[in-house]
Amino acid sequence: MERVRRSSLRIVCVGGGPAGLYFAILMKKADPAHEITVVERNRPDDTFGFGVVFSDATLETFAEADRETFEEITRTFAHWDDIDIHYGGEVLTSTGHGFCGLSRQVLLDVLQRRCLQLGVKLEFQTEVTDLAPYADADLILAADGVNSWVRSRYAEHFQPQIDWRPNRFVWLGTTCPFPAFAFIFKESEHGLWCVHAYRYDGRHSTFILEATAETWRRAGLDRATEDDTVAFTERLFARELRGHPILKNRSLWRNFPTVKNARWHHENIVLVGDAAHTAHFSIGSGTRLAMEDAIALSQALQRHRDVPAALAAYEAERRPQVESLQRAAQVSLEWFEETEHYLSGPRGRLEPIQFAMSLLTRSLRVTHENLRVRDPKLVATVDRWFAAEAAAQSGVPVTLTPPPPPMFTPFRLRGLVLTNRIVVSPMCQYSAQDGTPNDWHLVNLGSRAAGGAALVIGEMTDVSREGRISPGCTGMYKAAHVVAWRRIVEFVHRHTTAKIGLQLAHAGRKGSTRRLWEGIDEPLPEGNWPLISASPIPYFPYSQVPKEMDRADMDLVREQFVRATRMAEEAGFDLLELHMAHGYLLASFVSPLTNTRADAYGGSLDNRIRYPLEVFDAVRAVWPAEKPISVKISATDWAPGGLEAEDAVRVAALLGAHGCDIVTVSTGQTVPDQQPVYGRLYQTPFSDRIRHEAGIPTMTVGNVGSYADVNSILAAGRADLCVLARGHLYDPYWTRHAAYEQGYDLPWPDQYVSVKSFTPRLLS
Ligand SMILES: Cc1cc2nc3c(=O)[nH]c(=O)nc-3n(C[C@H](O)[C@H](O)[C@H](O)COP(=O)(O)OP(=O)(O)OC[C@H]3O[C@@H](n4cnc5c(N)ncnc54)[C@H](O)[C@@H]3O)c2cc1C
Ligand SMILES: Cc1cc2nc3c(=O)[nH]c(=O)nc-3n(C[C@H](O)[C@H](O)[C@H](O)COP(=O)(O)O)c2cc1C
Repeated sequence: MERVRRSSLRIVCVGGGPAGLYFAILMKKADPAHEITVVERNRPDDTFGFGVVFSDATLETFAEADRETFEEITRTFAHWDDIDIHYGGEVLTSTGHGFCGLSRQVLLDVLQRRCLQLGVKLEFQTEVTDLAPYADADLILAADGVNSWVRSRYAEHFQPQIDWRPNRFVWLGTTCPFPAFAFIFKESEHGLWCVHAYRYDGRHSTFILEATAETWRRAGLDRATEDDTVAFTERLFARELRGHPILKNRSLWRNFPTVKNARWHHENIVLVGDAAHTAHFSIGSGTRLAMEDAIALSQALQRHRDVPAALAAYEAERRPQVESLQRAAQVSLEWFEETEHYLSGPRGRLEPIQFAMSLLTRSLRVTHENLRVRDPKLVATVDRWFAAEAAAQSGVPVTLTPPPPPMFTPFRLRGLVLTNRIVVSPMCQYSAQDGTPNDWHLVNLGSRAAGGAALVIGEMTDVSREGRISPGCTGMYKAAHVVAWRRIVEFVHRHTTAKIGLQLAHAGRKGSTRRLWEGIDEPLPEGNWPLISASPIPYFPYSQVPKEMDRADMDLVREQFVRATRMAEEAGFDLLELHMAHGYLLASFVSPLTNTRADAYGGSLDNRIRYPLEVFDAVRAVWPAEKPISVKISATDWAPGGLEAEDAVRVAALLGAHGCDIVTVSTGQTVPDQQPVYGRLYQTPFSDRIRHEAGIPTMTVGNVGSYADVNSILAAGRADLCVLARGHLYDPYWTRHAAYEQGYDLPWPDQYVSVKSFTPRLLS
């Protein structure tokens, strides 16, 4: 339907929550000639819930959009800077987090009054069940909340996806005026309970209680009335509530729905607020998102005369911002789904200071660096604690006055002591001839070792000629390889403080392919060699069909790994990494997508991992006892029917039981039709989970870009080492530059000491 816009618009807002009312205000303010009606099924003073939270930054946005509303909001809100973390009987306070809490009812009153003042028509107690009465509207705003009727009615256009999360939560209130935002973690005989509580006026606080479904059920709350829930909560939190009662208001136990829509607009209808998207309450952003949608949409309508064009512009601008916040909300909600592992996993209970750091940085957006600006005292305590732990773990003394940033603390793996926590990831260079590394490899690895990382790991190096990915891959299968690798190892040992590892692999069904820049995973145009894999499944439909390995192949490949291990020892490497990730030969056994065997090496996960463990054991037996072995795994296949995080925990635990010292946690690349969810630190939550559930040290890799991220990951216990791949292609001196930025004195090689009197300036 073509709708050419008149200067003023007839607008119907379905739903009088924060999104609908605020949008009406902003539009009416922009042009009083707009005819705007808000249709709300409830009465004006009829609301669910208690308070909402805004950050200081959000309030500034509101101040710019409509000063009158902003001033009304700030007249009644409760403001605080502190977060109190109640954990293990202690309360740890972090300061510098500017937030305000406001009664939801007060917010709605403020918005309703402002609407009336500007001439917006408010129709209460009118449930919209048909859009026909609004056929003459130029714009219909679907602001009808999380269970949006409009979204369901036009589901084929909006294509909603609703992900019901497993935890249970209930929205309660209390007259207890918590002095700060409070996270209360409390264990009962039923499990762990978590409270998110904040004051929203002088006398009231919101009190959201959350638990896993198992804990909730064990406590019998699946059968609870609202009054039972209130009584249970008052009993369990009697100490924290200091005698104050719990209040209810439609306080039913719920599962949180993460709502997404493939499209936010259809003809002249547009979804906003919770109808379009939700973000978990643990990042406290639902109302903020709803009101920011209103701001963005009203601005788009001012820029574009044509309504559908304005709606398209709104969606194009707003969707990436919302999706970014939803990603942060997702990792935050998963943190709360898995909190029990920080208390009762194989590592035992996290120290309060590390638990606090993990909680505060859970969305992976707040970093060690942002926290240092907000709360330098807390971060200094974290750094001191972390450095003392590192000294005890490594046996290397560490100065505690002042402590180094977490990334510059030592770490021990058997007899290998790393001077810091940065690792150069193995990266294929496709530049060898018949497996022999050359000057390119020397300079590539040598410069990165001089660049300050504690450990550089040589690229995926294949245990046989037929085990290579491409004709340019390095190998460890003939005497010349030992000589060439030893030259590189000796350079690193003689001229740098770094240690050097080697990644051993067999490409399996992903072998006999072109160099990265000629077409990744694409079969060679000519000169192919025969492939083997766990099962005869080609990578692409047009790739070579690999031979299913029989026992003789398995013995041969295992012995090739053993031979390569001995050669790696002869070449002087400090660490060995076995590649069981990314769909290569060993990984092809682990994933059910590439292993359909009917023998003892297929079927259950324990069967599928049998052969990779056999190879691991054979390698471990010949690799010197004082030298560590890491294993790189894909923690998920990002594909239906493939490996999931819980499988990765089991894989890591088995590897640990067989003597693996550390697991490098990567993901995917098993099948070409994978659907990975990329983003900042997108693989780190898998490392966190494996580290705590399997109790094995981990290296995290994947979009680790800044030293702030590294320090946060380490201090929060999400990994023991941080691995950068592309970051080191971009900047071989990444670690030196991170030291400079943090004012940390990382000694330069003698040849380069003059750099100390140089001030880098990237801009004029
Ligand atoms: C437990 C919990 C805690 C939360 N905590 C916070 C927090 O701390 N901070 C925060 O910012 N957000 C929080 N939220 C989220 C917040 O409440 C929502 O994100 C926000 O209210 C979204 O605004 P909205 O206008 O899109 O939807 P809503 O506020 O849900 O408004 C939708 C309106 O539409 C009306 N409606 C629905 N269908 C119809 C119909 N067919 N006809 C007429 N009217 C209709 C409803 O009655 C309602 O008034 C929390 C949510 C929950 C469940
Ligand atoms: C050029 C290049 C070559 C790579 N080669 C290997 C390899 O040999 N072995 C391996 O395990 N991963 C390899 N990877 C994957 C990286 O080690 C790493 O897991 C991935 O790039 C994510 O890290 P990043 O975000 O820091 O780049 C390679 C990546 C790149 C960019």
